Amino acid sequence: MNRRVVYARGGSPAEVLTVIEEPEPSGPGAGQVLIRTSAFPVHPGDLQAVEAYPGKAAQPVPAGVEATGVVEAIGPDTPVAPGVDVGSRVTVFPLPGAWAQWLLADAGAVVAVPDHVPDETAAQMLVNPLTAVMLRREAEEHQAVGYDGVLVQTAAGSSVGRLVTGACAIHNLGLVNVVRSDRGAAELRKRFPDVPVVATEHPGWAGEVRNAAAGRPVSVAFDPIGGRLAEDLLALLAPGGKLVSYGQIAEEPIAVHASTLLHGSLTLRGKNIGRWSSEVSAERRASDVAAAISIASALHDQFDVAATYGLDELADAVKHAVRPGKVGTVLVRLR
Ligand SMILES: NC(=O)c1ccc[n+]([C@@H]2O[C@H](COP(=O)([O-])OP(=O)(O)OC[C@H]3O[C@@H](n4cnc5c(N)ncnc54)[C@H](OP(=O)(O)O)[C@@H]3O)[C@@H](O)[C@H]2O)c1
Repeated sequence: MNRRVVYARGGSPAEVLTVIEEPEPSGPGAGQVLIRTSAFPVHPGDLQAVEAYPGKAAQPVPAGVEATGVVEAIGPDTPVAPGVDVGSRVTVFPLPGAWAQWLLADAGAVVAVPDHVPDETAAQMLVNPLTAVMLRREAEEHQAVGYDGVLVQTAAGSSVGRLVTGACAIHNLGLVNVVRSDRGAAELRKRFPDVPVVATEHPGWAGEVRNAAAGRPVSVAFDPIGGRLAEDLLALLAPGGKLVSYGQIAEEPIAVHASTLLHGSLTLRGKNIGRWSSEVSAERRASDVAAAISIASALHDQFDVAATYGLDELADAVKHAVRPGKVGTVLVRLR
């Protein structure tokens, strides 16, 4: 049997996600790869999709988008990426319904895991690194980034935020990190002693960001929170600056008067890795995947695992995945 995580309506993931049993998939067809899953990550975005699902589904909706495992079979006449062979370790993204013991994946979404990358990193090798790649590209479209422009990012202690910080260090991009607590700031300083960190629990935090930028323009801000924090970031940007919104943690909307955008020539841009596969060319996707694998190699210390659960402990796993102060990604191991 194939055990698969599904939901039939939106709501609290710990309540609405269930594990069903279905027949194992038959052999892969042309263009497909059959994978036996070893682990999958529980990303906050996976859970937001479950919470936000409108109404009741006619059929159970399979959960998850990323998983790692071993190739069991490759469909006839199927072109695969280098290193993808029967028996090899792979990670797959995007695959709607990746939270299952057996996966039939589109071969174009299957990526070989290099030998030196451990299983725990392989399980989170695509979504977060590709997000960091996507954000960096968005930043570098601003002409000041790579020159005198400074980047600011909120929720900097997140799994994505730590990869962004590591990538900025590698590419020599000026960065000021913002977190919500002194505790989070101390944790981040230990990892990246050279990168300034500011905690929003202090009312004067925006001034601290300006001080840390030391007269350089704040050109781009990355923000997965939204709401009032995003409004504060818009106020921090230099003329011509860009706010890249890539998450929806705050419940309140981003309230921005047109004059703020108008007088500062500011850009407000939404970016979502869920749209990456349809927005970029096949060549760009291959290049981004190569960059993601480089991140998994170069920044292997930043792929912390917050905890590992079994499929029978799914409710605990999803609660842990959104716990304040958690460092790293929650994984579910299937074997
Ligand atoms: N657009 C995309 O394609 C894309 C792709 C990947 C991730 N994301 C988004 O990026 C964010 C980070 O993902 P992740 O997997 O890296 O998350 P993560 O490791 O679980 O970290 C979540 C972070 O959010 C912070 N946080 C939570 N609630 C907050 C609040 N109300 N105010 C300020 N900070 C808050 C936490 O801070 P504490 O340490 O203080 O608890 C923690 O640093 C998520 O919102 C996710 O949905 C978007």
